[in-house]
Amino acid sequence: MSIPVSNYQLVQLINGSWSVRSLAEGETFHPVVGPVAEAQSLYVEQLDLVRRVTAAGGREFVLWDVGLGAAANTLTVLRALQAIPDHRVRIISFDHTPTPLEFALGNAEPLGYFGGYEGPVRQLLDHGRVEFAHGGGWVDWEFLGGDFPTRLASPSAAALTCPDAILFDAYSPARNPVMWTLPLFRDLRARVDPQRPCAMSTYSRATLLRVTLLLAGWWVGAGSATGEKEETTLAASSLDLVGRPLDATWLGRALRSRSAEPMVDPVYRQAPLSEETRALLMQHPQFR
Ligand SMILES: C[S@@+](CC[C@H](N)C(=O)[O-])C[C@H]1O[C@@H](n2cnc3c(N)ncnc32)[C@H](O)[C@@H]1O
Repeated sequence: MSIPVSNYQLVQLINGSWSVRSLAEGETFHPVVGPVAEAQSLYVEQLDLVRRVTAAGGREFVLWDVGLGAAANTLTVLRALQAIPDHRVRIISFDHTPTPLEFALGNAEPLGYFGGYEGPVRQLLDHGRVEFAHGGGWVDWEFLGGDFPTRLASPSAAALTCPDAILFDAYSPARNPVMWTLPLFRDLRARVDPQRPCAMSTYSRATLLRVTLLLAGWWVGAGSATGEKEETTLAASSLDLVGRPLDATWLGRALRSRSAEPMVDPVYRQAPLSEETRALLMQHPQFR
């Protein structure tokens, strides 16, 4: 069953939960297990957020939400953190459009994950920023519009508060190549504070993505299963935050893969590793 509205559509998934579909991109957000289940396993659990925010004590913990979309990831994360005493969480959400969030808020009831956060979301949409008391803690949530790769490459990116964790949820590389290039992940790595380790989770397990992350200076590991995906990807600026680092077996497969060469330009294409990339990959400290 589906109800078409504007550029977005509410779709009911096979497990009965509802999600948002972009008609322009032809992609459904969190398509298999649904918004809450995917956000819980891919971001809350995989990024170990409850433990890390608790360990931060009263220090501000900074989340970058890349691809705010309909805010299922952020709201699921917030709900998981609510009971932590004295938490202080800053969220910076990036998206080139607030339209999916506006659409989702208008369909909050079937989507089912807004409960209690409708007010803050309304304020975020109206003012671009909202601060609110949250259980025993405090949340400061900001929305930054515009093209994310352009923002990250501009000198003003240096003024952004560095992230402790990144929820990376763009459309697929084939549909949205501008969000999966080597320059973008290099720029993202450059925004990490050397004094504060950062982990980043994303749903893709593609060899091309993992090679891109390694070349961009991240440590990279296999992430847990979610929905139809038997593996996802967890990257970090510190090896300690990667539970299952990619190993020599993965490297061997990457060297033989037909789709492993990072995209430098935002044009999707599949290619085996170039000689130069092979050499860089084999020198990565993760494989030494
Ligand atoms: C899969 S959806 C995100 C779903 C969302 N995380 C959620 O929990 O509902 C991908 C989002 O990335 C955004 N996006 C795609 N390309 C972008 C770009 N170049 N700059 C900024 N945002 C972009 C889209 O507008 C879309 O909202």
